[in-house]
Amino acid sequence: MKSHRLHYADWSWREYAAGATCLLTGRVKTGDAPRRLALAFAAMYAPSTAYPVNYGHTAIGIALSLFRTLQPARTEVLVPAYICPSVVATVERAGLVPVPVPVGADLNLLPEAVRQAIGPATLAVIAPHMFGCPARIGEIEAHCRQAGVFLVDDAAQVVGERSEGRLLGSFGDVGIVSFAQSKTVVTGVRGSGGVLLVNNPALDAGVRQAWEVLPAPHGRAAAFIGFVWNFMWSRHTGNSGYYFARLRDRLRGASATAPGPARISNLEASIALVQLGRLARIRAAKVDALETYHAALAAIPGVAIPQYAPGRYLSRIMLGLPADVDTAALRRDLARCGVETRLGYLESVRPHQPDDDELAAIRRMIGLPFGNLECGDISKICSILKSCLATARPALLESPLHETYQTAHQR
Ligand SMILES: Cc1ncc(COP(=O)(O)O)c(C=O)c1O
Repeated sequence: MKSHRLHYADWSWREYAAGATCLLTGRVKTGDAPRRLALAFAAMYAPSTAYPVNYGHTAIGIALSLFRTLQPARTEVLVPAYICPSVVATVERAGLVPVPVPVGADLNLLPEAVRQAIGPATLAVIAPHMFGCPARIGEIEAHCRQAGVFLVDDAAQVVGERSEGRLLGSFGDVGIVSFAQSKTVVTGVRGSGGVLLVNNPALDAGVRQAWEVLPAPHGRAAAFIGFVWNFMWSRHTGNSGYYFARLRDRLRGASATAPGPARISNLEASIALVQLGRLARIRAAKVDALETYHAALAAIPGVAIPQYAPGRYLSRIMLGLPADVDTAALRRDLARCGVETRLGYLESVRPHQPDDDELAAIRRMIGLPFGNLECGDISKICSILKSCLATARPALLESPLHETYQTAHQR
């Protein structure tokens, strides 16, 4: 049985070669690549300036600390109710309070909800483009500007996409990009890179000062090998990386901790430069795959890709399911048939608020294999999905008039 696995990076031999060259020449930690990467991003996002760092959330942390010194009386940061937990943790680490704001069916902040949530204590808004789907960032920018609130244009998951003719990441005061797995530009995991874009020139000196004191990263050779072994070659290496890590922790007497804020490594900046050079190809393949999935899923009542739009780029495909499908059982059935899936972000933003129906539907969504797919793979995955759904919920496939996810969310 062919297995259809999740995909974490669109790499050619060139990315492997860039990483291997740094390993073999001993230029893993430092070298010329971070400077060249900063220049490449600054040229692409001009007139913004670009500061390569080790994580997207390192970039957010630098920005929030600076905002805080400029507006010390303001303590709250508006974040989407559906968000990567590291963003929330970064807000808290900066001594600020994350305030969840509702998202729409496209998983992005609703501009009107942002406008209503802004209050006298609001310091900043963090507005992501979830899984690459562009948020209504121009409207959010206008609300922030009117209220005198800082805006972080969180383009962690996208590079080179535009909205209203402007690059995502270039709106507001600062933008951020992440190079972690399943983003657009991928260099590895856990501290493999990101960029802080400074869009408001008045903030540039403060950001530069904070960036200049960041330490060099460490442990990146092992992180690169770990990424290749556990993610890129997982078809062949299976769970062996997990057992190696347990053995290592046992020998060391402690488990590895996540790296703190640092600059990007030379190795990961070298891989990012290769990825930037291949961006148009990477994008075209994802747009094609999204169109193929959309066409194939039209034959399955009750499911939808809420973030789909014709010709749109997405970094991941998240599938909306009808409310009465047991997601865990469906994922188990799909796994038995060789289709690997994943969930999105499950944690609520503190203080915990009960999910409304919309958010509950979003948390039930599952990610499908998306990338490195051969001709026919997508129709095979969709036909497996259809038969697993038929087992899980026969009435759904018999009754096209049933109130389904598709009809409820694509009005
Ligand atoms: C929307 C968004 N913002 C920020 C981040 C943080 O990026 P990093 O993992 O590089 O810190 C992520 C990570 O997944 C993300 O999805």
